Amino acid sequence: MLSINKSGTVLKHLCNKRCFFLVRGRIPLFKRIKDDIAMVFEQDPAARSSIEVFLTYSGLHAVWWHLIAHWFFNRRMYFIARSISQISRFFSGIEIHPGAKIGRRLFIDHGMGIVIGETCTIGDNVTIYQGVTLGGTGKERGKRHPDIGDNVLIAAGAKVLGNIQIGNNVNIGANSVVLKCVPDYSTVVGIPGRIVRQNGVKVKVGKSFEHTNLPDPVYEKLKELERHIEASRNGEIQDDYVI
Ligand SMILES: CC(C)(COP(=O)(O)OP(=O)(O)OC[C@H]1O[C@@H](n2cnc3c(N)ncnc32)[C@H](O)[C@@H]1OP(=O)(O)O)[C@@H](O)C(=O)NCCC(=O)NCCS
Repeated sequence: MLSINKSGTVLKHLCNKRCFFLVRGRIPLFKRIKDDIAMVFEQDPAARSSIEVFLTYSGLHAVWWHLIAHWFFNRRMYFIARSISQISRFFSGIEIHPGAKIGRRLFIDHGMGIVIGETCTIGDNVTIYQGVTLGGTGKERGKRHPDIGDNVLIAAGAKVLGNIQIGNNVNIGANSVVLKCVPDYSTVVGIPGRIVRQNGVKVKVGKSFEHTNLPDPVYEKLKELERHIEASRNGEIQDDYVI
């Protein structure tokens, strides 16, 4: 049993806001709760009062429980960490492995059926809907889950699998299965996921999802213009072309 002094020290240690309940960004739990509630009001038109959000939004509860589980995980108290995570899963239907690293203002809407794997990292201002899996392919060991950037939306039922990087400001469409890296400012839909919009410009469907050779709409337009000038010089077409 801990002596009074010792338990006092432990309590002091636990309550020290510089070390307890911190994830990325070193924010104390209570400040984080306040931020998270404010974030819900920004994102969910159905939110009515702070107390309602605090008590009934299971997505928030899952994130807050995760902060505690992650704290224990980082101190190698894996059993306690895992137990907290499973209790949270029981009540929320959201399974976040205690090892996952989660940024600020993660909004899990509806929540049921979400799985977030051990080596997953999630940036700031990410929204995740029900049925999303951030998992492994089953073929990798070690780092085997995705890294999600900032300002990413992962729509209902989407699966993001493997050790891949999802850039900042990416939208992943409902029920997509994303297996390859996605650059910033892209929208990905379908199975397997393909980029349909990049930097606000629609990308032609049917192109391959090779990230070493991504479709570049501006380059394609310039090539088209070059071809037109060439054809015009050769007298093959009239000069009434509109870009
Ligand atoms: C992907 C999404 C985020 C929209 O992103 P966006 O960048 O605005 O993309 P757009 O709406 O312009 O769609 C681009 C193309 O992808 C298609 N598309 C969009 N979502 C798709 C999906 N989930 N599956 C397949 N195709 C999809 C669109 O039809 C469009 O095709 P087109 O160019 O042939 O017309 C959105 O469509 C989506 O999936 N939202 C789901 C949100 C959700 O989970 N809601 C549940 C709340 S409970």
